[in-house]
Amino acid sequence: VVSLTLFISNMGMDPINHTENESEAITPSEKPLPIPPLLEDKNPNPDEAEFHLTAQSSTSEFLPGQVTDTLGYNGSYLGPVIRVKKNEKVTVKVKNELAEATTVHWHGLEVDGERDGGPHTGILPGETWEPNFTINQPAATLWYHPHLLHKTGEQVYKGLAGLFYIDDEVSENMPIPKEYGVNDFPLVIQDKNLSSNGKVEYDLSMHDVMMGLQGNTVLVNGAINPYLEVPKGKVRLRLLNGSNARIYQFSLSNSQGFVQIASDGGFLEKPVEMSNIVLSSAERAEIIVDFSDYQLGERITLTDQVTGAKLMEFVVSTEAKETFNIPEKLTDIQKIDPSSAVRTREFVMQGMGPNVNINGKQMAMDRIDEHLNVHDTEIWEISNENSGMGGMMGGMAHPFHAHGVQFQILDRNGNPPPANETGWKDTILIYPDETVRVIATFNHKGIFMYHCHILEHEDAGMMGQFEVK
Ligand code: C2O
Ligand code: CU
Ligand code: CU
Repeated sequence: VVSLTLFISNMGMDPINHTENESEAITPSEKPLPIPPLLEDKNPNPDEAEFHLTAQSSTSEFLPGQVTDTLGYNGSYLGPVIRVKKNEKVTVKVKNELAEATTVHWHGLEVDGERDGGPHTGILPGETWEPNFTINQPAATLWYHPHLLHKTGEQVYKGLAGLFYIDDEVSENMPIPKEYGVNDFPLVIQDKNLSSNGKVEYDLSMHDVMMGLQGNTVLVNGAINPYLEVPKGKVRLRLLNGSNARIYQFSLSNSQGFVQIASDGGFLEKPVEMSNIVLSSAERAEIIVDFSDYQLGERITLTDQVTGAKLMEFVVSTEAKETFNIPEKLTDIQKIDPSSAVRTREFVMQGMGPNVNINGKQMAMDRIDEHLNVHDTEIWEISNENSGMGGMMGGMAHPFHAHGVQFQILDRNGNPPPANETGWKDTILIYPDETVRVIATFNHKGIFMYHCHILEHEDAGMMGQFEVK
């Protein structure tokens, strides 16, 4: 089994981030990591939940004293964490107070097409959209963001994104850190092109059109190089790569390892020991870091190995109140039998810049590209033919994502996936010249998107629609 890391270093030219001018990021004084609030559930019934979300425009100060226009949900940048339980009946009232249309898509949530918040579900300025759904999937760290045709990249970049947690009996009974903001922390990692006056503008250069927008500064939960005070014990970090395009390879200083316990769609069957983790745009991972060997006051750095950029620091600040023995078995994942698949469908990611496409086609709102029958199991064979100009340019990796469903990875170029990709996935990074086979059962009806999650590629048309009937 070739590990992802090995695969990257074997590619010759780095296939994931072609950085042309990594201008020195400005280093402002450190500030504490902002922790997004948990959104209040307005429904007192324990089996039901009602959430109110308002998309609004505002301003933020990424650099001290420098104000820039941003968008946020219920605030000036990013959004609150929506936390629901399995089997709960959920209503969300989404109000659009922006000057333009938007949508809210629940990335990773298994719901019907009309509740999925894709490009067909536009919310005009001043209007409210009120989807309701019953949560019917395992505990997971999902997220939400706009999905307006040709506008997703800009709206996410300006700040519209938030996390969506699902809990179930498995997550509630598991002896792992689960106190929000105490030993269980969200880390939303995004890059921005910050100009020296602190402005964040969505102006695409030709390079951005080709590779997706890659900024000069990385923010964690909206802050540059923040610090987080952690207990001297095990800490759970829920990582979301909320960047438009950048792929990170996260690692900790002192060669501090960690254990990955969950991927996009929920817990892995077993914890996987890691020294670093690659996440492409929209991918999530839950990891447990053990800080118990450090002295109080010691600092551990989170770094992106691709660029060498320091992202944030953990400061060991308090004695741990609890100790956790992470179980050797986390959950059961019923393997979907490939012989139960009714067919194999091919998706070829190809083209460059404005011509990026899937199967030779670019997104058209009035064209359904793939027709599926509800409850069918299918194998999707996704390949990346984007090996650059005759292979001369090293090619580009594309994160493939589909709505309303969670996949299992069968193989990467015929080889079994690495251990941390053996759970549920909704976003799968496909390397140049790679073919990845995934399998899923499509239990929800409606019209859904599949696309590259490099948002500039999605907006350029590297997206198609499948209808489940
Ligand atoms: Cu994260 Cu089509 O979306
Ligand atoms: Cu999605
Ligand atoms: Cu792409």
